[in-house]
Amino acid sequence: MIVRMWVVEAERAEGEARGLLTPAELARADELGREQVRRTFVTSRAVQRALGARYLGVPATEVGISRACSHCADDGHGKPHFTAAPELDFSVSHTGDLVVIAAATGTRVGLDVELGSRTIEIEEMVRMLASESEQRSLDGHSGESLRTALFRIWARKEATVKLTGHGLLQVPFPALSVDGPVVRVDGSPDGWPEEAIHLTDLSIGHGTVAALATTVPSPEIDVVTLPRVADLSL
Ligand SMILES: CC(C)(COP(=O)(O)OP(=O)(O)OC[C@H]1O[C@@H](n2cnc3c(N)ncnc32)[C@H](O)[C@@H]1OP(=O)(O)O)[C@@H](O)C(=O)NCCC(=O)NCCS
Repeated sequence: MIVRMWVVEAERAEGEARGLLTPAELARADELGREQVRRTFVTSRAVQRALGARYLGVPATEVGISRACSHCADDGHGKPHFTAAPELDFSVSHTGDLVVIAAATGTRVGLDVELGSRTIEIEEMVRMLASESEQRSLDGHSGESLRTALFRIWARKEATVKLTGHGLLQVPFPALSVDGPVVRVDGSPDGWPEEAIHLTDLSIGHGTVAALATTVPSPEIDVVTLPRVADLSL
């Protein structure tokens, strides 16, 4: 089982990435006030379209991408998926100037990438994030090692709720325990998958802490940094 991942620097890629967007997406991009937000939007949509185009063999602008939620009737906040290729699961994460996408067939995927240099309020983050067992394990850490352990927990939990499509609000993070190779969840949130969710810590560089959630154990992971979105190939 192989999970392919592509890393793109938005500032470098934005110019050519615009060529992969639909007119509606370009209009939306141009309404976005902040440069960084616009760049990320353009690059993320382009990466998704490039992946769909390669897989389906159609022009990027013709790839159908749905954001319908599988847990409620909302058609905008769900996990993105290709309408013509539900078997190709993918997950996108952005942080700083980076846009990263992971994709695979044969497993569901959830990806989260966080910039390790981000300012965080340690005590508040422990309260917001950690389950009881994680709080106990964090007691053994301080300083930089505590920060890294917290980012690791954060990335693993966000990757998990991005695999399931639940997002941050539906499943409180302290209800998840990610201090082992498989996610443990308190109770049974609506729509939670029956399969185990396996976690892999990723080293993708650029000062990030990143995690991948999959429904198969120990996937092979292939990470490629792309200078241009159009260079994405399967
Ligand atoms: C999913 C979520 C955790 C991502 O958080 P974030 O801080 O934006 O994190 P990232 O930058 O790592 O990821 C952004 C990407 O997540 C993906 N995403 C958005 N919603 C998602 C969802 N429900 N499930 C999985 N992935 C999702 C998108 O691809 C998005 O990038 P794009 O908009 O450029 O396509 C957050 O957006 C969230 O909680 N959304 C709400 C989902 C919700 O309301 N669920 C209720 C179900 S009833």
